[in-house]
Amino acid sequence: MRIDPETVERIKQTAAVADVIGDYVTIKKKGANYWACCPFHGEKTPSFSISPAKGIYKCFGCGKAGDSVRFIMDMEGLGYGEALRHLAKKYGIDIQEEEMTDDQLVRQNERESLLIILEYAKEFFKKQLYETDEGKSIALPYFKERGFSDATLQSFDLGYSPEAWDAFLKAALKQGFSQEIIEKAGLVTQKNDDGKVYDRFRNRVIFPIHNVSGKIIAFGARILRNDAKNQAKYLNSPETEVYHKSATLYGISQAKNEIRAKDVCYLVEGYTDVISLHQAGIKNVVASSGTSLTIEQIKLIGRFTQHVTVLYDGDSAGIKAALRGMDLILEEGLQVNLVVFPEGNDPDSFVRKIGSEAFIEYIKKEAKDVISFQANLFKEEAGDDPFKKAEMIKEMVQSISKIPDAIQRSLFIQKTATMMRMDEDVLLAELNKIQLKKMKGASSDPQQLSAQQYAEIRDLIEPVPAEQPAEIQNLAYYQELECVRLLINYGHLEINPAKAPGLTVVHYLIDELEGTVFQTPLFVRILDLCKQEFAAHRAPKPDFFLHHADEEIQSFSITISSDKHSVSSEWKDKHEIRVNTDEEMLEDLAYKNVLRLRKVYNDQHLQEILNQLDSLSADSSEMDEVLLEFIRLKEIQKNISQELGTVIEK
Ligand code: CTP
Ligand code: MN
Repeated sequence: MRIDPETVERIKQTAAVADVIGDYVTIKKKGANYWACCPFHGEKTPSFSISPAKGIYKCFGCGKAGDSVRFIMDMEGLGYGEALRHLAKKYGIDIQEEEMTDDQLVRQNERESLLIILEYAKEFFKKQLYETDEGKSIALPYFKERGFSDATLQSFDLGYSPEAWDAFLKAALKQGFSQEIIEKAGLVTQKNDDGKVYDRFRNRVIFPIHNVSGKIIAFGARILRNDAKNQAKYLNSPETEVYHKSATLYGISQAKNEIRAKDVCYLVEGYTDVISLHQAGIKNVVASSGTSLTIEQIKLIGRFTQHVTVLYDGDSAGIKAALRGMDLILEEGLQVNLVVFPEGNDPDSFVRKIGSEAFIEYIKKEAKDVISFQANLFKEEAGDDPFKKAEMIKEMVQSISKIPDAIQRSLFIQKTATMMRMDEDVLLAELNKIQLKKMKGASSDPQQLSAQQYAEIRDLIEPVPAEQPAEIQNLAYYQELECVRLLINYGHLEINPAKAPGLTVVHYLIDELEGTVFQTPLFVRILDLCKQEFAAHRAPKPDFFLHHADEEIQSFSITISSDKHSVSSEWKDKHEIRVNTDEEMLEDLAYKNVLRLRKVYNDQHLQEILNQLDSLSADSSEMDEVLLEFIRLKEIQKNISQELGTVIEK
């Protein structure tokens, strides 16, 4: 849902940048500006400057920069809209949502009602734990036996659901919640077909699940005794309007600041692992809650750090799960290490056994990168069998090929060569073979539109304001066009069904383009439409655009989706090759498009800075700042070009 622009303006004006940042770090005034130790990277002397006049901040150490909204996004790990709402709440500004349809209004109200009843449920379960005989005599002793302190119980909002069939249902109805909302929150369940519902969680200890900003969105509930046969150990809330399991990490709200501060996130499997480690003073820890790790979860971690250490059980199922997860983390471009515990131990039992200091020592000593880990594992498994060894080395190279960064890849190849006593060239050849295969799968852009096709489409839409050199401006236009082409034609499709089931093109692009403003007005509107649809949990299909009420959008969509823009079969026949269709290479198309967009915008920014440099006198007080910015943009330019280079060549 969009917040109307006037309100956005008001929020931005009210939320003074120094005031907002001052809530998180100590700021000191020097001249017109404030200075602080940067909250985004560890430092002892302040290089984080805040300019109240311009309403922006900038760190000369790590390069982070932005306004008060950006700051909240980065600190709290929120999206743009969420950050605006966060600030609006803090400054008591009422939010006018723009153009909400009845449907959207209902949905918005429903989300809010769900959060309210979930909060009520949390309080209810806590009350049961602390204030009823049942809770005090059954559940509290259980937690104590597990070694959880009072402070721990509080900071994770742990609770208890009584044995009665309808204790919560009755209380919630009496409180005035409708049965419908109680059901939608997943707090009750139907036993028979008679339509009668009962409490979902009964006679269990309750682990509330918080979202990244600390709101309760679901519950996990554990039986009290391990010997209870034919009962699942844990029951969890079902998927609801506010709970998407695959995008949730248990403990993220309690851990996020420490993850950022320590610049590493420990990833464990269970609720109790998170809680025990937290209590032992190791607070940068989250759990995937027993399911296999998803891309969305990795992206969530990536908002706070680029380093993950996976802490899994030492049994073989645990190791297999860990390896699968690690490949996924590598693909997302994060760095990952793995620690396994002696068989029969999970982080919870292990930290209680050996204490937090020894635990941290153990992690330091045992943490291995994927390659070292696989090498050890394989040595044990393959012994002297050359065939097995060859197979395993291939698997290792396969893992390495997932790393997006070329330099990291080649370092890992070196390491593998040393560890497995292999010739580096042989491994490189294997790696290249894999890369080549990938490249064939994503051959060089035959489906890109020709210049003439662009020109034709261009004539259809309103002109771009001409402030920039025509060349750069055109490039931005082309890439934006390619982006909306993907959104319109394929927004609803999965970007890579094998690797990221459920992740749609529209989801991917909206995430990647967060904070980006297109320069072509029509494209801005189309992207906004996509965001609206996506926020309403709909992935727009081509039909949505082809039948859109707005004439400009409709005629553009029709042109962009017509056949002449796909590769003609004639062309295919002539060259006697199989050309992949767009659908088969969506990931590659979308990924490259995002990179090219970033490059183009960065180039524009560079151009502005160059102009500024031209106009500044050498002794100007702004010179240093502008030069620093220039260097930063150059660095970004280099990185993107490199990345594009590797994407295209290999
Ligand atoms: N889990 C689940 N449903 C189950 C079993 C497990 O949802 N039937 C999830 C829970 O999030 C759990 C995690 O998988 O925390 C790991 O499972 P497990 O290791 O069995 O649980 P622990 O967290 O170790 O719990 P405990 O120490 O209480 O046995
Ligand atoms: Mn356990």
